[in-house]
Amino acid sequence: MRDVQLSDFEVVTTQLTLEADGIVSVRLERVDGQPLPAWQPGAHVDLVLPVGITRQYSLIDSPADLSSYRIAVLQQRNSRGGSEYVHVFLRPGQRVRIGAPRNHFSLDPADEYRFIGGGIGITPLLSMARAADARDADWRLHYGGRSLRSMAYRRELRAAYGDRVELWPSDLRGRLPLDELLSAPSRRTLVYCCGPEQLIEAVRETAARVGWAQEDVRFERFAPTVHEHAPDRAFEVEARRSGTTVAIEQGESLLDGLLRAGIGVSSSCRSGVCGACETRVIEGAVEHRDDILSAAQRAAGEAMMVCVSRARGDRLVLDV
Ligand code: FES
Repeated sequence: MRDVQLSDFEVVTTQLTLEADGIVSVRLERVDGQPLPAWQPGAHVDLVLPVGITRQYSLIDSPADLSSYRIAVLQQRNSRGGSEYVHVFLRPGQRVRIGAPRNHFSLDPADEYRFIGGGIGITPLLSMARAADARDADWRLHYGGRSLRSMAYRRELRAAYGDRVELWPSDLRGRLPLDELLSAPSRRTLVYCCGPEQLIEAVRETAARVGWAQEDVRFERFAPTVHEHAPDRAFEVEARRSGTTVAIEQGESLLDGLLRAGIGVSSSCRSGVCGACETRVIEGAVEHRDDILSAAQRAAGEAMMVCVSRARGDRLVLDV
């Protein structure tokens, strides 16, 4: 099934640049020459490739320049097709579709920031570091990678920000010293981390052990975590705006049930990491299985990711 994009539009690839070992950046402009939609640091877009594959990539240039977007793509060894297509087949002049920017990793106000990036996880942190610097905040970026050659934008970061940026190529320096970097929990500081799952889990574990408030340590993941949950049960969902009630079967996702009933909901990753399918909850308790909503947002119960999350009880009412 093709992912449903309720607001994607056509762009043209204007530049491809090799940024580091296995990382290519792609510049995209609107076909009609109009400005692209506004975005904020930390945002990502869906890239809808001609082979029917949709992937999410962070926007890396300045939000002040809406004449183009730039994304960076790591060639994955076990690519499911997206990164391979970009590296092998995508060429300047080719048209693709992208979705409007979404942001579940936004830079909230704080006096200090600690950015921790691993590998291609540096991409959302580029615009965030730029914004933190423009705000005159006290910030540091700790950037880990396999080797210097694999670390995109390391020279630009060091040239622009000097010692605020610390590089940790693991072949020369070992792993990021998280105990040291997170040794002083402070409610004046927000930590933003993006990178491979092992890094995210290590930061989460270290921050919890050292005493950081959960809401002060923010993550963006590329892949879903494994959630322990009760077996799926059937339930009923009322799509209030559509005036339809749909029976969701055991083993069927809420998203698929809504689409089966002809109710339009955006979707992309279908695994609870991109936020495309976020839907407002009017009534009913949700069993959240996504990797986006914070503990506070889950407790508020006002939104859910319908691609993975389900009803906790027998019925939900959604604003669709
Ligand atoms: S489609 Fe990506 S979170 Fe649901």
